[in-house]
Amino acid sequence: MKIIFKRATVVTSRNQKVQDVFVDGGKIVAAFDEKEADKVINASGKFLLPGVIDPHVHFRTPGAPEKETWETGTRAAAMGGVTTILDMPNTNPSTTNAAALKEKRELVKGKSFVNYGFFAGATEDVEALKTMKGIVGVKLYMASSTGDLLLDRPDVWEEVFAAAKKMNVPVVVHAEKESRIRAGQRDCACAREATEAALDLRKKIGGRLHIAHLSCKSELDLLREYRDKNVTCEVTPHHLFFTMDDAEDGFLKMNPPLRTVMDVEALWRGLLDGTVSCIATDHAPHTRKEKEQDFEAAPAGVPGVEFSLPLMLNAVNEGKWPLERLVLLMSEKPAETFGLKSKGRVAEGYDADLILVDMEMKAEVEAKNVESKCGWTPYEYFNLKGWPVLTMVNGEVVMDKRKIVGEMVGEEVKVG
Ligand code: DOR
Ligand code: ZN
Repeated sequence: MKIIFKRATVVTSRNQKVQDVFVDGGKIVAAFDEKEADKVINASGKFLLPGVIDPHVHFRTPGAPEKETWETGTRAAAMGGVTTILDMPNTNPSTTNAAALKEKRELVKGKSFVNYGFFAGATEDVEALKTMKGIVGVKLYMASSTGDLLLDRPDVWEEVFAAAKKMNVPVVVHAEKESRIRAGQRDCACAREATEAALDLRKKIGGRLHIAHLSCKSELDLLREYRDKNVTCEVTPHHLFFTMDDAEDGFLKMNPPLRTVMDVEALWRGLLDGTVSCIATDHAPHTRKEKEQDFEAAPAGVPGVEFSLPLMLNAVNEGKWPLERLVLLMSEKPAETFGLKSKGRVAEGYDADLILVDMEMKAEVEAKNVESKCGWTPYEYFNLKGWPVLTMVNGEVVMDKRKIVGEMVGEEVKVG
């Protein structure tokens, strides 16, 4: 298929420029004769961005199809302008050895609207970890959360860091301190102390470290001072748009939890000053029924993959940050952090994972439109201006005018 985006305003991390973009055989190419085009998309007045790469989702395959299936999760991604997702290992069974990884690969093959990569879960069995080929990173749960991947063993952490270094992938750390959680103190000290421990490990062992879902000003201050190209971090939309005062019921329960206004303001500053490398949703769907229980009983986690881009585009319209920076933190940096070859940029030779954005489109987030199997969103009733109106994956249009129109053309990413 040869497709031309005509007169698109192409956005990179550095600038915006009106131009025609040519796609051929799933790749962005220099140009071809317009007469050869199978399709010409009038992109005048719209912004053409690299598709969003969400480096942290829980799509629940295998094990919890009542919360999400690969098909519904990747549909939600495509609707949200997300063209690549990286899936976490706390499934059932968890993705902690080559056999479980193979099973997951087989289950999702041909069932994906967007491209995908897999994390391996770290356990005491570091030998099993070493046999997992093609993963995008190693997930280390320093503290307990959904699933059974808690690894509260500093001695084993060192081996995990060493294994990841050898495999040339980052260790993604869920940084909370288990002993504090047990003492009922899931606070910023709990997060900061674990982040510090992770930084010490990275210093001692080497390799690359990525801190998941940074939520506190104190963690950010720590990282800002650290400034090391081998240390990256991510922030979730829910930690940017809610505070602890919003967490009235189980629907806004997640790990790490919501924080104060001061923390939220610090996170926004971190997006602008270069301390934060990526926006990641930690998309963690649970059913309404599960979330309707009292706060204590409700499982932790909120969905997000569908609305992270509209939320962050709305923030552009509100003057909270520029579109170029959005491209940097939602596409370029995630691709770079996880070594996703030829992704994250609108440039010749890169994969044609592209989105068209209408910065003028206004819509209210409604539960009835949610594609995620869970059927709810914490952003219900948010009025957002700026929406993706077309999603292209591997050169094929999968979402057009806010409707899924394409096939499940997503493929596993190549790393390295
Ligand atoms: O809130 C969370 N939910 N945090 C996690 O670390 C896991 C996630 C889930 O899988 O539900
Ligand atoms: Zn997570």
